Amino acid sequence: MKNEDKIKQLIDLRVKAKQGGGEKRIEAQHAKGKLTARERIDLLLDEGSFEELDMFVTHRCTNFGMEKEKYLGDGVVTGQGTINGRLVYVYSHDFTVFGGSLSETFAMKICKIMDLAMKMGAPVIGINDSGGARIQEGVGSLAGYAEIFQRNILASGVIPQISVIFGPCAGGSVYSPALTDFIMMSEENSYMFITGPKVVKAVTGEDISVEALGGANMHASRSGVAHFVAENEESGLATIRDLLSYLPQNNLEDAPITECDDPIERKEDSLNSLLPENPNQPYDMMQVISSITDYGDFFEVHADYAKSIIVGFARFDGVSTGIVANQPSQMAGILDIESSRKAARFVRFCDAFNIPVLTLVDVPGFLPGSGQEQGGIIVHGAKLLFAYGEATIPKVTVTLRKSYGGAHDVMSCKQLRGDFNYAWPTAEIAVMGASGAIEVLEGKAISKIENPEEKAKFIQEKTKEYQEAFANPYQAASMGYIDDVIEPRNTRFRVIRAFRSIQTKKEVNPSRKHNNIPL
Ligand code: HXC
Repeated sequence: MKNEDKIKQLIDLRVKAKQGGGEKRIEAQHAKGKLTARERIDLLLDEGSFEELDMFVTHRCTNFGMEKEKYLGDGVVTGQGTINGRLVYVYSHDFTVFGGSLSETFAMKICKIMDLAMKMGAPVIGINDSGGARIQEGVGSLAGYAEIFQRNILASGVIPQISVIFGPCAGGSVYSPALTDFIMMSEENSYMFITGPKVVKAVTGEDISVEALGGANMHASRSGVAHFVAENEESGLATIRDLLSYLPQNNLEDAPITECDDPIERKEDSLNSLLPENPNQPYDMMQVISSITDYGDFFEVHADYAKSIIVGFARFDGVSTGIVANQPSQMAGILDIESSRKAARFVRFCDAFNIPVLTLVDVPGFLPGSGQEQGGIIVHGAKLLFAYGEATIPKVTVTLRKSYGGAHDVMSCKQLRGDFNYAWPTAEIAVMGASGAIEVLEGKAISKIENPEEKAKFIQEKTKEYQEAFANPYQAASMGYIDDVIEPRNTRFRVIRAFRSIQTKKEVNPSRKHNNIPL
C-alpha cells in the first residue's frame, strides 16, 4: 500500500470509528432525545480540546458469532481534554454499539484513562448510557467492572470522580457511579437500579414503573443516590463544568481562586432583621447564604434531598468554600437520618479535597421517634459528628439561632476543632429547648397544680426563667465555646476574615491504616 493510501486508510478508519454503531442507531439515539457519546463529550469539554485514545480498540469475544460484529472503539469513547483550561479525563458510553454494554476491552479503555488521571492528578468524568454487562462476554465483563470498581476505590479522595447518567444504568453497573463523588441524572431517559421492573415484579409481585423505581427524581429526592438532576443533557453538562470550578484537581492542590470584586466588608443590613421575633417561626436560610457569599452565588448539592439541611459550594473572596446549613423552613431545620448522611458525605468530600467549610447553625435537635431510632439515627447522626471531628480543613461556624443538645455538638462545635465559632445575638445554645427542659425539670411540680390557670402561669414563669438563663449565646461565650458574638450584618466580613487567617492551617490526625467511621 502506498503511503498516500495508508493516510487515506487512517482517515477512513477514523470516520468509521466516529460512526459508532452506525447511522440508524445514531438516529434511534437522537429519536429518544439523547445525544451520542461524542456529542456529549463535545458539550462537556472546552472546544477542540478533546484528545481521544483507543479509537481502534475492538472486542475479542468469539461467543455467539461476535467475531463477525466488531466496532472501532467498542462502545466507549475515552480520552482527555480541558474544562475551563484544566485537564480532565473522560469516558462516554456509546449506546449505539451493543447498547453501550461493557466488554473486557471496553473496561480496559476506561481503566487506562483512570490510571492516567491518577498519575496526572486530574478529575475523571464518566458519562453512563449502558445496558450493563455485555452478555456475550460472560465473566470477562464482570471482571472488567471489578477492575473499574477497584480503581474508583483507590482514586476516592485523591482525584474528584463525577458520574453522569444519561441513559440506563442497571445491575452491577450502578456501583461505579455509587463509588464516585457526585452523580448527575437527567430528567428524561435516565434511570438507575439494581434490578429492573420485570425482575421486581417476578420476585416481589410489586408493579412499578421505571421512573418510580430508578428515575432521576426518585434518586434525587428519596434515595439520595443522585446529587443533581438536569432538565436536559446540555444543561446537565454545563452544571458539571460549573461544579468543577469549585474543586481542586486532586487532594494535594487547592481549588482555583477567582478574582472577586464583591467587597469583603460588604454589610448586609437586612440580616439584622431577618430572624422572626418568635423563635419558633421559620425563615429561609438561603437568604442568609445569598447575602454573604461572593455575588450571592451558591452551587447547591443534593438540593431535593433531606431538605432540612443545605449543602453546597460558594466563594468567599474568591476562595471555594463548602457550606453546610440547617434550613429552618424545612422541618424546623431538624437533623434526621437523611440530613445527617447528606451533610456527613459533603463534609468528608470537602475535607478530602482541602475545601474549607462554613457551618450555619439553626437546629432544634435530632428528630425524635421510633421511626428514626429503628432506622439507626444513632449511627447516622454519628456520621456527621465523625465527619466534622475528623476534618482538618479550616472550619468556621456561625450559630444564628437554635443550637440544642447533641445537634449543637454535631454541627461543628468548638470542641470538634472548630477554628472560629461565632454566634449572632439571637443564638440560643442550650441542652434543649425551653418547653422540653421545663417538662423534665418541673414535670412533678406542674402535675401537682390542679388549677389550669395557675398551671399555665407557673409554666410561663419557668419558661421565661429558663429562656433568660439559656436562650442566648452568652453562657457559651463566657466559657470560650463561642469566640465572639457578631452583628448579623457583619457576617460576610467576619467569615472572610476568619477564613483568611486560617488558610495556612495545618492539623494532622493520628497515623493509622484508616478510621472506622460508623457506616
Ligand atoms: C449485549 C446488549 C445489552 C447487553 C443491550 N444490548 N443490552 N448487548 N449485552 N447487556 C444491545 C441490544 O441487543 C441491541 O442491539 C442494542 O443493545 C440496543 O438495545 P435495545 O434493547 O434495542 O434498546 P432499548 O429498547 O433502548 O433498551 C435498552 C435496555 C435493554 C433497557 C438497556 O437493552 C436491556 O434491558 N438490556 C439488557 C440489560 C441487562 O439485563 N444487562 C445485564 C445486567 S447484569 P441491536 O443490535 O439490536 O442494536 C449486569 C451485571 C454487571 O450488568 C455486574 C457487575 C458487577
